[in-house]
Amino acid sequence: MEELIRQAAGILAAKRNVVALTGAGISVESGIPPFRGKGGLWEKIDPMQYAHIDAFLKDPAEVWEVLIKSMKEVLDRARPNAAHQALYRLERLGILKTIITQNVDGLHQAAGSTDVIEFHGSFAVQRCMDCQASFDTGSLELDSLPPLCRCGGVLRPDVVFFGEMIPPNHLKRSQLLSAACEAMLVIGTSATVEPAAYMPVIAKRSGAVIIEINPEPTPLTGEITDLALMGKAGRVMSRLAEQVEKLMA
Ligand code: OAD
Repeated sequence: MEELIRQAAGILAAKRNVVALTGAGISVESGIPPFRGKGGLWEKIDPMQYAHIDAFLKDPAEVWEVLIKSMKEVLDRARPNAAHQALYRLERLGILKTIITQNVDGLHQAAGSTDVIEFHGSFAVQRCMDCQASFDTGSLELDSLPPLCRCGGVLRPDVVFFGEMIPPNHLKRSQLLSAACEAMLVIGTSATVEPAAYMPVIAKRSGAVIIEINPEPTPLTGEITDLALMGKAGRVMSRLAEQVEKLMA
């Protein structure tokens, strides 16, 4: 593993246009469970029953009760971990330009990263389904569910539910950056949800080096990935940032 980390550091230290694609796995060490695999959220609840827009429209109180309220409790407590911090270290070195994240937890921005595309939206904001007013999730009262806007409309998190489109500007920009980057770090994603999972394919076809950080293999491993660093994001990413910093000192 140390040799693979050194190889990855050598590649990154020579690049100035690197993009990262992150998924739930990067936030596991911040105490946020992933969606798939052991301890995953979708093992406990059926996403089609609770995370699909049709389910929310049919019974917003139930989706708030079962899914959104507990997400808020977990996300309120979560702080960035060593992997989020390592990505900020790579940005400060002038290597990492943009993070495309499937996460809605805001932890990349909390770690200092300045250019973060929130592909699946942000949990930090709630939007009124009727008048579109937006509210800070942190200041929300959850005494009765669903929470309502001043106008009486139902509030929903500003995230992409299953059955909804990726915000077109986020998708377009992600595709362009993936096609233009010299290397892509793919961290903590099962790479099973499209169109996010397609970004490393675009990058690879455009000539980028793909470096994957994940304790488990994914559909990208061995197909699209050039270097697979098979370990937890916190340790692997902080070792990687340390090596790159040494090379650039
Ligand atoms: P998943 O839950 O599908 O995958 C999490 C990945 O993180 C798996 O490949 C794990 O092996 C890996 N992992 C676990 N612990 C890790 C650690 N400590 N360090 C590094 N990797 C670790 O999460 P996503 O790929 O992000 O969409 O899921 C994609 C989308 O599916 C989510 O954005 C969400 C979900 O349904 C929406 O809600 C629209």
